[in-house]
Amino acid sequence: MVRFTLASLLAAVGLAQLSQAATNNTINSQLRLAYAGNTGMYVSWNTFEKLDKPTVHYGLVPNDLNMTASSNVSVTYPTSLTYNNHVKITGLKPDTLYYYLPEHLLHMQSHCPYNFTTARPAGQSKEFSVAVVVDLGTMGAQGLTTYTGTGVSVNNTLLPGEINTIQSLEKFQSGFDFLWHPGDIAYADYWLKEEIQGFLPNTTIAEGYHVYESILNDFYDEMTPITAVKPYMVGPGNHEANCDNGGYTDKTNNIPYNVSICMPGQTNFTGYRNHFRMPSAESGGTGNFWYSFNHGMTHFVQVDTETDLGHGFIAPDEPGGVEAENGGPFNTTLDAQTNWLEADLAKVNRTETPWVIVSGHRPWYLSHANASGTICWTCKDVFEPLFIKYGVDLVLSGHAHVYERQNPLANGVIDPAGLNNPKAPWYITNGAAGHYDGLDALQYPLMDYSRFGLDTLNRTFGWSRLTFHNHTHMTHDFVASKSGAVLDQATLYKARK
Ligand SMILES: *[C@@H]1O[C@H](CO)[C@@H](O)[C@H](O)[C@H]1NC(C)=O
Ligand SMILES: *[C@@H]1O[C@H](CO)[C@@H](O)[C@H](O)[C@H]1NC(C)=O
Ligand SMILES: *[C@@H]1O[C@H](CO)[C@@H](O)[C@H](O)[C@H]1NC(C)=O
Ligand SMILES: *[C@@H]1O[C@H](CO)[C@@H](O)[C@H](O)[C@H]1NC(C)=O
Ligand SMILES: *[C@@H]1O[C@H](CO)[C@@H](O)[C@H](O)[C@H]1NC(C)=O
Ligand SMILES: *[C@@H]1O[C@H](CO)[C@@H](O)[C@H](O)[C@H]1NC(C)=O
Ligand SMILES: *[C@@H]1O[C@H](CO)[C@@H](O)[C@H](O)[C@H]1NC(C)=O
Ligand SMILES: *[C@@H]1O[C@H](CO)[C@@H](O)[C@H](O)[C@H]1NC(C)=O
Ligand SMILES: *[C@@H]1O[C@H](CO)[C@@H](O)[C@H](O)[C@H]1NC(C)=O
Ligand SMILES: *[C@@H]1O[C@H](CO)[C@@H](O)[C@H](O)[C@H]1NC(C)=O
Ligand SMILES: *[C@@H]1O[C@H](CO)[C@@H](O)[C@H](O)[C@H]1NC(C)=O
Ligand SMILES: *[C@@H]1O[C@H](CO)[C@@H](O)[C@H](O)[C@H]1NC(C)=O
Repeated sequence: MVRFTLASLLAAVGLAQLSQAATNNTINSQLRLAYAGNTGMYVSWNTFEKLDKPTVHYGLVPNDLNMTASSNVSVTYPTSLTYNNHVKITGLKPDTLYYYLPEHLLHMQSHCPYNFTTARPAGQSKEFSVAVVVDLGTMGAQGLTTYTGTGVSVNNTLLPGEINTIQSLEKFQSGFDFLWHPGDIAYADYWLKEEIQGFLPNTTIAEGYHVYESILNDFYDEMTPITAVKPYMVGPGNHEANCDNGGYTDKTNNIPYNVSICMPGQTNFTGYRNHFRMPSAESGGTGNFWYSFNHGMTHFVQVDTETDLGHGFIAPDEPGGVEAENGGPFNTTLDAQTNWLEADLAKVNRTETPWVIVSGHRPWYLSHANASGTICWTCKDVFEPLFIKYGVDLVLSGHAHVYERQNPLANGVIDPAGLNNPKAPWYITNGAAGHYDGLDALQYPLMDYSRFGLDTLNRTFGWSRLTFHNHTHMTHDFVASKSGAVLDQATLYKARK
């Protein structure tokens, strides 16, 4: 790739005075992108200090970043160690490569300038792929590595030199347009569990927020080689809700099971809400919780299985919910999420975007031993009827740290067509990306609708690659992070013009 010296870059953007602003004490980076329609892009990054006017320079050629976009959004929250800066660039051309550089990252010469490609226009029928991960935590000394704490199976660690999922995604990133991560991002909320299990050195509960925030920062930095180039579309998972997940059993310190020790700023999806900007304004959704976007021949929908199920249900992460996380709701309009979902699905133009793919964090069709903690039956109640009614092609989830591909299903009934033009939605759960305590067990025998499974016995972390070939064929691959091998491949056929 072409490299530029700081001097030539500064000359290129014509802003030599910025070299003073680019002191290292303002830099943290965590650079990330998200689609804002096919003529826009959110550019977000973190700094140690608040920025008055976060600014991004961009252009069509790397040595002439002749346009700028700015905002006043430099936000933080109690206990955070950084500010989250968000700039929305508008007026771009679809499916076009741009070069860009946030102002305060000018010193980062090795990757300068960065580049992104805007979303493909709806209706474009060229083949493309996307990558999907669920349940991906930080790698290395604060998360998934070659050793672990007490009580964690050795099957759930990496082998020495093993390529982890973040490294695998980086290696294969020229082969996908964007990365979709529907929940459980970083696992910073495992800090207390990791201490209790003797994996991280113990600290006081009062100082715990430092550990929590440093795991978040660690993860976002590890992801930057991918997220600075490929849009990173995210959805909410339970590990975004509260700081002390998996740490409740600290009987030694007399912390009752159902009392959170989290400080202000570490509950109610606060970090998640500050860190990301998803295209909900563009799609009529709500925050980073539910939204949709088009890309080529596909309409992508993110739903929220954690809060706001509506219809009188207490969602899993809401006060009184199964996770005891005390988060949400995020929209007080009655049944806001499912009303939005129905309207969104109803207006999809299947001539332009024949494929409709939904992701939500929690599954309901799964061969899982701990059904009550993993399966979200209320999610099934509110979402499945709409998925069936509007002919959703594929539903992706994670939450369980396994991989399982199902037959297309409606109301638990196997679609006899299989993948050969089914009427029912197809379901795939892939929560095998990897985090501190690795993988879970499937329940054997597998459900009758299961078609392929991998779990802790297989000691394989991996991610999903979806390839939209044309209007009739779409392939799902399970890619093993350690080898890049495709361990499971299946192609869905839909009879369409
Ligand atoms: C920032 O840090 C990098 C690496 O530590 C160093 O090379 C660079 O000169 C520093 N830049 C400024 C503006 O201090
Ligand atoms: C920026 O440069 C491009 C060519 O790289 C040109 O097409 C465009 O008109 C320029 N825009 C502005 C605002 O100068
Ligand atoms: C930020 O800018 C928006 C419009 O771009 C404006 O509505 C809002 O009041 C501004 N906020 C602050 C805190 O200045
Ligand atoms: C875009 O950036 C990536 C990562 O730095 C780089 O590998 C790639 O070559 C760049 N693409 C172009 C067209 O400059
Ligand atoms: C941290 O504290 C737990 C008890 O809460 C103990 O089991 C563990 O060994 C301690 N870890 C270290 C590294 O001291
Ligand atoms: C917490 O647990 C105690 C003991 O089981 C119970 O009495 C109390 O009602 C619980 N509190 C909440 C808020 O669930
Ligand atoms: C709540 O949902 C309604 C209806 O979909 C939407 O108009 C509104 O903007 C949402 N509110 C928030 C806070 O996002
Ligand atoms: C979580 O945050 C939302 C938005 O600020 C707020 O409406 C809701 O009441 C909060 N939930 C809890 C349990 O504090
Ligand atoms: C759907 O898209 C096609 C192709 O762009 C267009 O011809 C048709 O009018 C659209 N249908 C509706 C209802 O907008
Ligand atoms: C680890 O995996 C092996 C098979 O690779 C299996 O025999 C063993 O029971 C597993 N251990 C645990 C604790 O799951
Ligand atoms: C996964 O592990 C199970 C149990 O060891 C084994 O039967 C199965 O063949 C493995 N699957 C793959 C794809 O290696
Ligand atoms: C669509 O893609 C599939 C898989 O690559 C291919 O077999 C099929 O012939 C293609 N259909 C058309 C109409 O090009």
